[in-house]
Amino acid sequence: MEHELLTIKNNAMSLIFDATDKRELEEIKLQFLGRSGELTKALKGLPKLSADEKPKIGVVANEVKNIIEDAIRQKGVELNKTKPVLQKIDVTEPGIKPEIGHLHPMSLTLFEMVDIFKKIGFQAADGPDIETDHYNFEVLNMHKNHPARDTQQSLYLDTRNSNINPGEILLRTHGSNMQGRIMEKISPPVRAIYPGKAFRYEQVDASHGFEFWQLEGLAVGENIKMTDLFGTMTYIVKEFFGQETEVKFVCHNFPFVEPGAEAYMTCTVCRGKGCSFCKNSGWVEILGCGMIHPNVLKAVGYDPEKVSGFAWGMGLSRMVTLRYQMDDLRLLTNPDIRILEQF
Ligand code: DAH
Repeated sequence: MEHELLTIKNNAMSLIFDATDKRELEEIKLQFLGRSGELTKALKGLPKLSADEKPKIGVVANEVKNIIEDAIRQKGVELNKTKPVLQKIDVTEPGIKPEIGHLHPMSLTLFEMVDIFKKIGFQAADGPDIETDHYNFEVLNMHKNHPARDTQQSLYLDTRNSNINPGEILLRTHGSNMQGRIMEKISPPVRAIYPGKAFRYEQVDASHGFEFWQLEGLAVGENIKMTDLFGTMTYIVKEFFGQETEVKFVCHNFPFVEPGAEAYMTCTVCRGKGCSFCKNSGWVEILGCGMIHPNVLKAVGYDPEKVSGFAWGMGLSRMVTLRYQMDDLRLLTNPDIRILEQF
């Protein structure tokens, strides 16, 4: 029996030594230590031995078992360390094309717009989404109880447990909050654009969102006239949408400009013929604008007798839907890759 055990040990050790991968090692383990493995079978003969042989052979059997188990464990560690054998590579096999991401249509539009404005001397600025009542309304000639505040469904922040008064801070309802911030910092002449998100408590549908992008801007200096405003807006729209695009201005009231206007451009879907997108008018509204109100200039420390300027707020999300002829604003915030892959 002892001889049989030693033969099993020697066989196992030489096989373990020669093993070249983990699968082979696993097979060796089964061959010797498995339920019907060679060593297991031999051990089943132990009870048949005589009383004085049993303890002696028992010790040898245990040792053989331990030696085999140790050797398998060690070989396993060794095999883990060895590098896999290099496989032959078929360099002619066609590869798998990696999916490469790209800019969102919103970013594409934003970057292109910023480039167009930079070409004509505007600098780009960034501002906070959370704003004080002061910059969002007060500076802009919209004092407390001004009826125009009602047109901007404001989302105020909960100021309980803070030392801020209720109604003091809100998500900015328009990019115009930056007018005060910029003019207070830079003395005229100044030409700036400030793209960013605006937030309103709106019922979401195909043409309204509770958060949307605007591209606001202003130009202030000596002798800036309304025709400069018309010229600049028309230039930008034609650069972005093509020279054949028409732009028209219509009187409109905003408390922070005097006079104020809204600009419309030829509908990109029907090219001005009239369709459901433009409610059969052939025109779509794209921005509000006007000559900055003297009260606003005063509030930021400018002298309205010496300088004048214009400002506008363009619906940037609207620019994207118009460029790509999307009939639903919600597509811009839908993360569905099948939509995004089309741009
Ligand atoms: N803030 C206005 C809005 O969100 C848009 C606007 C109108 C901005 C006239 C201006 C402006 O700067 O001069 O509806």
